[in-house]
Amino acid sequence: MIKIGLDNIWCEIAEHTRGQKPLVVVSQKVDKLYQPRFEHKFVLKDGEKEKNFKTLEKVLDAASAAKLSRKDVIVAIGGGVAGDIAGFAAATYMRGIDVVQVPTTLLAMVDSSVGGKTAINTRFGKNLVGAFHQPKTVLIDLNFLRTLDERQYKTGLAEVVKYAFIEKNIDAEGDFMGFLWENADKINARDEEILKRIIKICISLKSAVVEQDEKESGLRRILNFGHTYGHAVEKQTNYKYTHGEAVVAGMRYAFSLALEKNLVSASYAQYANDLMDKFNFPTIPALPQDKMQHHMQGDKKAAGGAVTFILPTAYAQVDAFEMK
Ligand SMILES: NC(=O)c1ccc[n+]([C@@H]2O[C@H](COP(=O)([O-])OP(=O)(O)OC[C@H]3O[C@@H](n4cnc5c(N)ncnc54)[C@H](O)[C@@H]3O)[C@@H](O)[C@H]2O)c1
Repeated sequence: MIKIGLDNIWCEIAEHTRGQKPLVVVSQKVDKLYQPRFEHKFVLKDGEKEKNFKTLEKVLDAASAAKLSRKDVIVAIGGGVAGDIAGFAAATYMRGIDVVQVPTTLLAMVDSSVGGKTAINTRFGKNLVGAFHQPKTVLIDLNFLRTLDERQYKTGLAEVVKYAFIEKNIDAEGDFMGFLWENADKINARDEEILKRIIKICISLKSAVVEQDEKESGLRRILNFGHTYGHAVEKQTNYKYTHGEAVVAGMRYAFSLALEKNLVSASYAQYANDLMDKFNFPTIPALPQDKMQHHMQGDKKAAGGAVTFILPTAYAQVDAFEMK
């Protein structure tokens, strides 16, 4: 169940975990800002690097120390890092207990809290160890976005733009890319009504894809648009750039590859790049191609020496390509 636009998130959490003992896993900044009061709480240090085996072990130990049973629940309150690690802990603790996702970044609201992918990183790369574990409930309170810094807000917008590039149909009104283009100023100003609509659109799009292909054997791969190159950027720069910043670099790279392969027109590629410019994403300097190639070969989507790229093929349409 997914609920969007709540007023009292703490009551909602209590209601949705009634009868269960919750272990809350909360992002550090969120803990400082909102000071959630729970008997069992694990505060996750900030940063992508925390999504590792050691931290997972600590979360699982916290669950054991709190004597969580198979009927209890882990509640992730925070960004995608908290959601991914708490979700994976819930997937493995006593062979799987409930998880409730309370996303507090835009990225987590539009993407990582929905769909059931959970993971940690290893020294070999991003999200290499994980599980599919659907949340029992996702509770989205837009008020959290008020304290999100500009950089983190933009990183969520990167995933929003990604949805526009992969799917045309949003709702009765049609074109998501056009909607983002027309409302760019309001989006940059965090207009709440527009954001609520965007979050609903992104979630319904993601849910529709996940429903058809939960375990990513085909269609779900389109959600990785910009991610093969993006993950390599994150790895090569030692996570200096946020996930969204890296995904924007990946989407620009995908458009340049598609142009090279004559998959899209120059005018569409230009329009796509102009749309990304409207949100003032930072530019990532050119990175050594040999190293990037090496990281992409190591991506978990690579098989038999071929790297899978999701490339644009037409307006708001993408497809998967195996490339050696
Ligand atoms: N599971 C999935 O399907 C999926 C999809 C996309 C991304 N991801 C993962 O998500 C992660 C990135 O998530 P993210 O961008 O949310 O980063 P994050 O979890 O690192 O959060 C970013 C920062 O924002 C802070 N923060 C969170 N909420 C806040 C708020 N309301 N106010 C102020 N500060 C706040 C956090 O403490 C942190 O410092 C990556 O690890 C990525 O791999 C997973």
